[in-house]
Amino acid sequence: MSRKILIAGNWKMNGLKAEVSSLAKGVSAKYNNNSAYEMLICPPFTLVANAVDTVKGSGLKVGAQDCHFNTNGAHTADISPLMLKDAGAEYVILGHSERRADHGESDSLVNKKAKAVYEAGLKAIICIGESDEQNKAGKAVEVNQSQVAGSVPDNATAENTVIAYEPIWAIGTGRIPTSDDIQNIHAEIRKALASKLGQSVADGMRILYGGSMKPTNAEEILALADVDGGLIGGASLKVDDFMGIGACVK
Ligand code: PGA
Repeated sequence: MSRKILIAGNWKMNGLKAEVSSLAKGVSAKYNNNSAYEMLICPPFTLVANAVDTVKGSGLKVGAQDCHFNTNGAHTADISPLMLKDAGAEYVILGHSERRADHGESDSLVNKKAKAVYEAGLKAIICIGESDEQNKAGKAVEVNQSQVAGSVPDNATAENTVIAYEPIWAIGTGRIPTSDDIQNIHAEIRKALASKLGQSVADGMRILYGGSMKPTNAEEILALADVDGGLIGGASLKVDDFMGIGACVK
C-alpha cells in the first residue's frame, strides 16, 4: 500500500505573528502544492487561525500541538478539537514526549484525545518514543510497542492517524539512531499496529521519524522502507532547512 510522505513541522512554543508572515508564508510559497509529499506546520494555538489564512491555496496544511478530549465546557485554558477544526486545522499532534513529561500525559489520556480528534473530523499524529535510559537498557522495542497498545485507539485508521516515532534522546540533541535502528524500530511499530488494528490498516498507516532531523540526514532517513516522513522541531523554524528536508523526498 502506498503511503504518501508527510513532512510535519512542530513549532513547539515558538512563534509570534511575525513568524506567520515570514515562516508560514515562506514555506507555503516554496511548497507550492508539491504532490510528491504532504507538508504540514503546527504552530502554537495562538497562531493556528492566522496560519490557516496565510497559507490558503498553497496546499500547505496547518495543525495544532495538543487538545482536550472534550468538545467544550468548564476546562479553563484548554482547547478542544472542535475549536481547532473551526480554526481550520487538519491535524493535531498528541502525546509528544514534552507533553508526557511536562504535563504527565499518559497513554490512556492520549488515546482519549485521539478519539476526540477523530470525532471532530481531524487527524491525530500520535507520538511515541523511548528515553535514553530505556534505549540503553535494550527496551526500545518493548516501550514503543506498549505505547502503541495504550495510546492508539481501536478505531484508528490509516486515514485518521499518523504515528511519530521520536526517541526522546534524539529530540533537539543532534544525536540520531543509526538508519538500521530506525528501520528496525519502525518495522516493529508497524507489527504492533498490525496486531492492534489488522495488517491492512498497519500497512497503510504512516510512521514518521522525529528527532534532530535536518536536510543533511533527511535523505537517508526518508529512504528507509518503513519511514513515511518526519516530525521536525528545530529545523521547521527555518524556511530553508524545512524545505531542504522536503527536497530530500524521492
Ligand atoms: P527536533 O524536535 O527536530 O528539534 O529534534 C522534534 C520534535 O520534538 O518533534
